Amino acid sequence: MATGESEIAVRAEGLVKSFGSTKALDGVDLEIPRGQVLGLLGPNGAGKTTTVRILTTLLRPDAGRAYVAGHDVLGQPAEVRRSISLSGQYAAVDEHLTGAENLYMVGRLYGMSRADARARARELLARFRLTDDSDRPAKGYSGGMRRRLDLAGALVAKPAVVALDEPTTGLDPRSRMDMWEVIGELVEDGTTVLLTTQYLEEADQLADTIMVIDHGKVIARGTADQLKAQVGGERLELVLAEPTDLPLAQQVLADVGSGEPQIDTHTRRAEVLVDTGTKALIEALRRLDQHSVVVNDVALHRPTLDDVFLALTGRAAEEPAQESSKSKKKVKA
Ligand SMILES: Nc1ncnc2c1ncn2[C@@H]1O[C@H](COP(=O)(O)OP(=O)(O)OP(=O)(O)O)[C@@H](O)[C@H]1O
Ligand SMILES: [Mg+2]
Repeated sequence: MATGESEIAVRAEGLVKSFGSTKALDGVDLEIPRGQVLGLLGPNGAGKTTTVRILTTLLRPDAGRAYVAGHDVLGQPAEVRRSISLSGQYAAVDEHLTGAENLYMVGRLYGMSRADARARARELLARFRLTDDSDRPAKGYSGGMRRRLDLAGALVAKPAVVALDEPTTGLDPRSRMDMWEVIGELVEDGTTVLLTTQYLEEADQLADTIMVIDHGKVIARGTADQLKAQVGGERLELVLAEPTDLPLAQQVLADVGSGEPQIDTHTRRAEVLVDTGTKALIEALRRLDQHSVVVNDVALHRPTLDDVFLALTGRAAEEPAQESSKSKKKVKA
């Protein structure tokens, strides 16, 4: 191990992986300092799970190298597996066992004594707010409870690094917040986390640094604020009572916003990116009011993954890449 390597919990260099003609990863580099959270943000098919599977030794890269806690994922897979655990996109919970039995089983698989496995299960059930349901079969658990149980399972052996693959995709807002809370506690305990997500808001809440990936390539890195700055702040949206007022609204938004306002005559909606948030909103409403324009609805949206994507690639996160490579917008790297 090189000097200073111990401060870096996870390092990957030039990861490449193809499945047939699909290039899932096309040269991904990443580094997670010990105790930090890296948010790997990207739409469906971006390569998030592929990255996680390589780092957890479930998949071999075609090219590139990766190290977890200083161990080579290719050369020292057993050591790597002792250092990193995975809580997956599809929870690996045994439906027929109770919550307590699920965790006990994991402990036993890791070679713990019966007493230790039971104690560890109890401790984790309490921490993940599952104690009251610990003796019920997991098939009766809600989606949020299953995810928490799955994450608890990943922590049984106290790994140095935890990979969380889309821990909240498909959860309702309440369960998502619960999950964020337990992940936050995990980080406070010093665990290094690789978190994949499709939600900028989630990466924003939990990650120290964010990497945006698309088609197996890293297209941006930085803090949440840096990414949002690339997007150009928030989006101000107005819905007018009268379509005839839209041209005036367009002019006002062009003045208070940054960039070109978007107008939709069908929905009577006008929107623009703003750097100054509520200040721009107040100014826009004041000016429209001076002209007696009736505004039915007004909103200030924080940037979403879609907005970040649009700014970085010139296309929405769900659109195929080929169609818009011509319309690529320039952003500073
Ligand atoms: N085992 C496989 N066989 C064939 N193609 C695969 C396989 N695994 C992944 N791929 C393809 O590689 C690309 C990256 O997939 P990956 O699962 O890493 O994306 P992801 O970012 O995790 O997406 P999602 O948000 O949908 O989970 C996709 O085009 C996917 O279809
Ligand atoms: Mg995935």
